Amino acid sequence: MEKQLSQATNENMQRVALVTGGSRGIGAAIVDRLAATGYVVYFSYLQNHEAADDMTKRAGRRGQRVVARQHNNRDADDVAAFADEVLSTEGRIDVLVANAASTVFRPYAHATDKHWRWTFDVNVRAFLALTQRVLPHMEARGGGHIVVISSAGARRAIPSYSLLGASKAALESLVRHLALEFAGRRIVINSVVPGLVETEGVQVFTDEASRRLVRQRTPAGRLTSPEDVAGVVAFLCSPDASMIHGQTVVVDGGYAIVG
Ligand SMILES: NC(=O)c1ccc[n+]([C@@H]2O[C@H](COP(=O)([O-])OP(=O)(O)OC[C@H]3O[C@@H](n4cnc5c(N)ncnc54)[C@H](OP(=O)(O)O)[C@@H]3O)[C@@H](O)[C@H]2O)c1
Repeated sequence: MEKQLSQATNENMQRVALVTGGSRGIGAAIVDRLAATGYVVYFSYLQNHEAADDMTKRAGRRGQRVVARQHNNRDADDVAAFADEVLSTEGRIDVLVANAASTVFRPYAHATDKHWRWTFDVNVRAFLALTQRVLPHMEARGGGHIVVISSAGARRAIPSYSLLGASKAALESLVRHLALEFAGRRIVINSVVPGLVETEGVQVFTDEASRRLVRQRTPAGRLTSPEDVAGVVAFLCSPDASMIHGQTVVVDGGYAIVG
């Protein structure tokens, strides 16, 4: 009887999401959307304390519980500790969104071993560290959702984008292989490819003219917004997506079909 009661209490506890890189841009919209859907959301950020603080205060004013933690994806132990903290505090992680990414934009001929390691540590190795913590937990709980934010550069060649593109291709491949292993255990794993989203991150490798060109070539007639991406992430974490496994969903207003 006691066991049944504690199981029931456990099921009634609020669902918990962990989002990497949630203080700005696409990650912030994902945090907002998941919090609005009823999740307690823990997000990591790298250095911008003010943006992280704003996120948690805004959520607090709406009566939502959003928790910011400074963790560097570059350090696998650090991100694993983030997952451990959430699991020990909340007792569960229902949703993992691997959003944070970093690279050095330059022609491949000028890329060094250091640039390669930086990009693959932040983007791929951190995902390995997080999933090694989160997957056994989801398996034991009987399910969960994982979404990776990829990019068009996983499949297309974009100037100065080789390291980031290769790391995103590795992530998309991992998503397919993890889906093969875990779909039967009710863990839903997919990736999302946003079109060009005008975040601070994207200003680094695009200028106004190139953004205008993408806007003009996009069949939907506008650039993708952070909220467009967040809505699809939320859908992939919903029961309606329970038969979508190992897919890459493109959210770009149709740019990829013509661009
Ligand atoms: N924007 C686009 O057009 C576009 C298109 C396709 C794919 N994407 C993908 O979408 C994702 C988000 O991009 P975005 O443009 O929204 O990025 P962004 O505006 O630059 O925001 C990046 C977020 O990640 C955090 N972050 C950066 N490095 C980190 C690290 N080493 N460890 C932990 N957190 C870190 C930042 O924290 P701080 O605030 O502390 O710096 C911030 O919260 C990325 O995976 C990107 O590749 C973006």
